Amino acid sequence: MGVVVVSGGTNGMGRAFALGRAERGDRVLVLGRNRERGEAMTGGPIAFRRVDLSSMAETRQVIDEIITGYGTVDALALFANGLTPRRTVTAEGLERTFALYYLSRYLLSFGLRPALDRAAAPVIVNIAGVGARKGAVRWTDPQLTSGYSTVTAQLQAGRANDLLGVGFAQRSGGRARYVLYHPGFTRSGDRSPLPLPIRGLLAAASLMARPVADAVAPIHRFLDAPPAAPLTAIDRGRELPPDYPTLDPRNAERLMDLTEKLLR
Ligand SMILES: NC(=O)c1ccc[n+]([C@@H]2O[C@H](COP(=O)([O-])OP(=O)(O)OC[C@H]3O[C@@H](n4cnc5c(N)ncnc54)[C@H](OP(=O)(O)O)[C@@H]3O)[C@@H](O)[C@H]2O)c1
Repeated sequence: MGVVVVSGGTNGMGRAFALGRAERGDRVLVLGRNRERGEAMTGGPIAFRRVDLSSMAETRQVIDEIITGYGTVDALALFANGLTPRRTVTAEGLERTFALYYLSRYLLSFGLRPALDRAAAPVIVNIAGVGARKGAVRWTDPQLTSGYSTVTAQLQAGRANDLLGVGFAQRSGGRARYVLYHPGFTRSGDRSPLPLPIRGLLAAASLMARPVADAVAPIHRFLDAPPAAPLTAIDRGRELPPDYPTLDPRNAERLMDLTEKLLR
């Protein structure tokens, strides 16, 4: 039994994973915005903390509370993400997709390090799109002030998460194993922000998608038997080699530097 923090645990894969951990006897802290869905999961081993993870101030506040309130964290599973069709800047001046999908994961990963280091076999699982070669970090314009689209923003933040795994393994000095996991097209995901015709197409396509339980099963295995290597990247069941082009250590260094500056 351990303590598992699940960002984006109120819906989709995160919710299924959080419920699965509770069934296995873990204490689970679910992070998400939707109070109704979150509170419906509480009682017994699951606690819920409402937080908007596109806010760096709220994310930092939650990290402090977890370190004080739990002390030890055995696993951190990062699911929170959302689609933003039009470029949106948060009150903190950050492009929303980059903030929610990448920067909050950076803060949670590095910020919870002291609590993870107290666990016997700590592990972080970052659920994103490792293995995808499309898209890139826009080094000179990570806030996508020009050429924004939902897909460009998602692919940029996805790649940033790949490099976060590499950067954490290189830089954190922590004991937590980092796992990058791409679940593949899954029967989950909030599509409500998308235009109706696209929602229709995706709903039809999702008949071919993986059931949530199948997509989540490997994540349980990463917790039950954390890998020995500091970084593991699994794209739909296939382990990627460390020299995979999207996992470039120099790009990871560059992104960690850029992120530190952005968050200063
Ligand atoms: N579904 C797929 O086909 C697929 C394929 C490849 C990769 N992935 C990746 O897998 C991960 C999980 O996807 P999913 O399909 O399970 O997504 P989902 O069903 O849309 O769930 C997303 C979760 O993120 C939370 N969230 C969204 N905005 C938030 C915010 N501002 N602050 C805090 N929490 C927030 C949501 O909770 P609230 O609404 O309560 O905030 C929800 O719990 C994502 O990173 C996604 O990119 C998915």
